[in-house]
Amino acid sequence: MCGIVGYLGSRQAAPILLDGLSKLEYRGYDSAGVCVMSGGILRVAKAKGRLAVLNGLIDGGKAIEGTFGIGHTRWATHGAPSDVNSHPHMADAGKIAVVHNGIIENYMRLKQQLLKKGKHFQSETDTEVVANLIEYYYDKLKDFPRAVRRAVGQLEGSFALGILCQDLPGTMIAVKKESPLIFGYGDGENFIASDVPALLKHTRKIVHLLDGDIAIITKDSVQFYDAFFDRVERKIEYVDWDISAAEKCGFDHFMLKEIHEQPTAVKGTISPRIRDGRVVLDDIKISRDYLAGLKKIYIVACGSSYYVGCLGKYLLEKTCRIPVEPVLASEFRYSAPVMGEDTLVLVISQSGETADTKAAMMEAKRHHARTLAIVNVVGSAIALEADDVIYTWAGPEIAVATTKAFSTQLSVIYLITLYFAELLGTIEPAEYQSIVSEMTKLDQKISLCLTRENVAKIRYYAEQYFTARDAFFIGRNLDCGVCREGSLKLKEIAYIHSEAYAAGELKHGPISLIEDGTLVVAVCTVDALFDKAMSNLVEVQSRGAEVLGITTENREAEFKVKVPSVITVPETHPMLQPSLTIIPLQLFSYYVALLRNCDIDMPRNLAKSVTVE
Ligand code: F6R
Repeated sequence: MCGIVGYLGSRQAAPILLDGLSKLEYRGYDSAGVCVMSGGILRVAKAKGRLAVLNGLIDGGKAIEGTFGIGHTRWATHGAPSDVNSHPHMADAGKIAVVHNGIIENYMRLKQQLLKKGKHFQSETDTEVVANLIEYYYDKLKDFPRAVRRAVGQLEGSFALGILCQDLPGTMIAVKKESPLIFGYGDGENFIASDVPALLKHTRKIVHLLDGDIAIITKDSVQFYDAFFDRVERKIEYVDWDISAAEKCGFDHFMLKEIHEQPTAVKGTISPRIRDGRVVLDDIKISRDYLAGLKKIYIVACGSSYYVGCLGKYLLEKTCRIPVEPVLASEFRYSAPVMGEDTLVLVISQSGETADTKAAMMEAKRHHARTLAIVNVVGSAIALEADDVIYTWAGPEIAVATTKAFSTQLSVIYLITLYFAELLGTIEPAEYQSIVSEMTKLDQKISLCLTRENVAKIRYYAEQYFTARDAFFIGRNLDCGVCREGSLKLKEIAYIHSEAYAAGELKHGPISLIEDGTLVVAVCTVDALFDKAMSNLVEVQSRGAEVLGITTENREAEFKVKVPSVITVPETHPMLQPSLTIIPLQLFSYYVALLRNCDIDMPRNLAKSVTVE
């Protein structure tokens, strides 16, 4: 969601802020702004729209001189996207400027009180309330850090803040509660940002602020205080990302690059955890006795991560014989789930910051359920709070629509399934060996799905169908889980109305929507259900649907008898097949979106990490 960048040093701040914000564009935003201390006053420039608009407004930063400032990309929550609602927000008397990521839940109450105290407001945002509250205390206390502390103590909700005070040039205060914020050490200069890509050009020495932290920053120093305002040390981390991880490297879009990175990402996730033909999960401390006493596993996540959970249900239940229920994180807390010490709550999140997922996890902890998180971003809130963490080594995912994170999350589900099944003795050794052996080849088989020839074929089908108004994705069992993810990809990046259904469910209602020319993407790879899935497919075809089939290479001839438009993927162990089947669906959505001139890496209204509930 919103992106924050802050800079203090000797270089011109505005171009650095603009460049940093451009590295956070992937988070999703609808307006942008900067505030720079210039000639003794805080000067703000902000505008609705893409960063290019702001860039034009201030001539790439040259129009505002000054060596420290804060910048922001806003994803609207309180108040529509507009110039006036954009950040930074100035307090009434112009002494305090604030950028904010998160939501202040009690802002209306605070606003009423501040109005009574004579403060005026320009925008509809909760952030302007923060600026005025700090200014109110600053006027009383004449002390910037203490004013921030007093104001923050009154805020309810989630917030990462970057704050400047006109009377204290050269000092910035950063505050974190629930929304992510990092500090970056430079040489004679310092930075804050919502995420690492904004800092990579300048520093790799960072600190993840913890909840409740307040950092007082100058160009040469930083002091961290905890929620009690006690001085604390924070752990310095060194980011080892290759800078290319945050660049497109010749690909037209991050999404395409990340699709092609999947063989490496999957290999990086699986291979360190397979040793001498066995799955070894050093990351977690889960014993056989604990598993044997488990009554239930909940899988809690949002969006694509939830669809990984839906696939996980089939795999874990079938292989480990433990009841598994995937639940949308936004629903979990409010559905009174039955859980306790004999419940494992598996939490899946690429960003590790998704507010709904984090809240669901905390609810599980309150009920003494054990939490095991599958997370991509090291040091993120969910990773820090979970009882156990397994990292997906996907590397930074920049495109809003997930691809490689999805694939690596699925890989971790395979690893967990085998690990639990071996501990519980619910899997035959030969079956275990055959899955492990196929897992070590998964990256090569994903590469085969990405050959030039296969990509060209998918592009060809995208050209046939890119004008579709509606689409259905149908499949059975694991194929149904893959369909959910494929359908979401088409919706989010190509803006085509699309629904995923279990193929057998279609005739119980949705088939009434099938008419001449409706696009139906049918995934048929599950051997035991192949004939049934083919019957479902013929049912829609005979009602006028245009069917595009996805199946395994060995089924191609049989498939083509009924459906001429077919994309094939190599065969693997049936449990691992979703890792291959999803690849053409990702590419199909990508090329359809390209042909429809959509903003692929930053689809409208979407944010990469959804830090509000
Ligand atoms: C879809 C997508 C989203 C995320 C969802 C959860 O392409 O990326 O549906 O999967 O917002 O995000 P994380 O995994 O960061 O918790």
